[in-house]
Parts: sequence; C-alpha cells; structure tokens
Amino acid sequence: MTDSQLLLSIAVLGGTGKEGKGLAYRWAKAGYHVFIGSRTPEKAEAAAKELLGLLEGEAHIEAMSNVDAARKANIVVLTVPYAAHKDTLESVKELLNGKLLIDVTVPLVPPKVASVQMPPAGSAAQEAKQILGDGVEVCAAFQNISYEHLLDNGSVECDVLVTGTSRDARAETIKLVEATGLNGWDAGPIENSVVVEGLTSVLIGINKKYGSTHAGIKITGASKQST
Ligand SMILES: NC(=O)c1ccc[n+]([C@@H]2O[C@H](COP(=O)([O-])OP(=O)(O)OC[C@H]3O[C@@H](n4cnc5c(N)ncnc54)[C@H](OP(=O)(O)O)[C@@H]3O)[C@@H](O)[C@H]2O)c1
Repeated sequence: MTDSQLLLSIAVLGGTGKEGKGLAYRWAKAGYHVFIGSRTPEKAEAAAKELLGLLEGEAHIEAMSNVDAARKANIVVLTVPYAAHKDTLESVKELLNGKLLIDVTVPLVPPKVASVQMPPAGSAAQEAKQILGDGVEVCAAFQNISYEHLLDNGSVECDVLVTGTSRDARAETIKLVEATGLNGWDAGPIENSVVVEGLTSVLIGINKKYGSTHAGIKITGASKQST
C-alpha cells in the first residue's frame, strides 16, 4: 500500500448497488479506505460485509449513511440511478466543498435506455457541477463500464474516458481508475461528458442487438508513453 492510498478515503454513495459495490470492491482491494454509503444502514452493512468476505477481511471498508460517507471521505463517488441523482447531490452538497466528486451516473430515462436522452444541463455530470457550484471539482468516469466483471477480478475489456472540471481533477481520477485495474484516458473538459454518458446508451443498444452483456470501447492509436 502506498502513502497516498493510506491518506485517501473514498465514499461511494449508492455503494450498495451493482456498479458502486463493484468499484468499492476494487478500491478496497487496492488498499484505499472505502465508505459504503446508503439510505439504509442495514443495506450498507450488508454490502460492506459482503465485500469484506470477498476480500477475506483484508480491507478497510465501513458502512454508513450517504451523508456520513460524504462528510468523512476525501473523494466522493456517486453511483445512483439518474432518477435519484439530483436529490442525492442536494443531500450532501454542503459536505463536498473542496472535495472531488466522481460522477458515474448515466442519465438513462426508462424505458428507452438505448436512446441518448441528455438533461437540459447537457449531461448528468454538468448537472452535478451546476448543483454543487464552484467549490467542488467534478469528474465523470466509468459510465461505459458494465458492473458485470468488477466483483470477480476479471479483466474489463473497456477503457474509461475521464472528463472533468480541471486537468488536476482528471489526473486524480485517472489514478483511481488505474487503481481499479482499468485503463483511464483524459477525455477533456466536463462538457465532453455528454459524449461519454451518451455512449452508454449506444453500448446498451449493442448488447441488446448482439446478445452481449458488457460491450465496451477501447482507444486505439494513442500511447500514454508520450505524455
Ligand atoms: N450497472 C452498470 O453496469 C452501470 C454501468 C455504468 C454506469 N452505471 C450508472 O451507475 C449508476 C448506478 O447504477 P447501478 O446499476 O449500480 O444502480 P442500482 O444498483 O439500481 O442502484 C444503486 C444504488 O442507488 C441507490 N438508489 C436506488 N434508487 C434510489 C432512489 N430512488 N433514491 C436514492 N437512492 C437510490 C440504492 O442504494 P440504497 O438503497 O442503499 O440507498 C442502490 O443500491 C446509474 O446512474 C447507472 O446508469 C451503471
């Protein structure tokens, strides 16, 4: 475990769900202190217990409310359905000042989840920035990563495009992407999150048409050696 991992704690709001639990597992496995946030303490306890079991107790994972998780962590990750996006952000807004929010939300509007339907702000991540204001850096990441293989240590054949409000915030987020074992790319400003969030509907459509469960994307023709 590195010094920076010891210092950094990550709150996963909605960490009881499919995507959040998978990411929490990977960060806990990498040595980060993870707070599983939920609206229901019992649900958070059950998720934390499950992850600790998978990691044979060798991890720092704590269960708590979304509000307590947001208060205690250095970095806050949001993994709730779009219908709960605004209310969840409003409930923790005052606690996020000076922190980094990583928004995983895709603004899917059932039943047409294979059609791109962006909110008036442009994207869910831009909406998060509007709600949280200037004191909070917001990055968008993991929207194209299906939860399917996050809990089983399997390799994930999909890159992570990271957009966000500053170069530093994106660099910090890419470090956390790499800690999960995935490959992250700086995909530019938060305005670009519209493309990444929209791509999820395209991948859902491909899954439906071709009978797959975790279609993904890879960046080709670029190398990180040159940066
Ligand atoms: N699943 C994937 O493969 C995947 C991939 C990429 C991105 N995403 C995005 O990640 C987000 C989470 O997806 P998911 O599949 O993990 O969702 P999920 O399992 O349906 O829900 C995640 C958690 O959100 C909380 N939640 C659910 N409804 C809520 C409500 N009405 N109000 C407040 N909290 C609520 C629940 O936590 P508590 O009940 O414990 O509070 C739930 O465990 C979504 O925006 C999704 O588009 C998902």
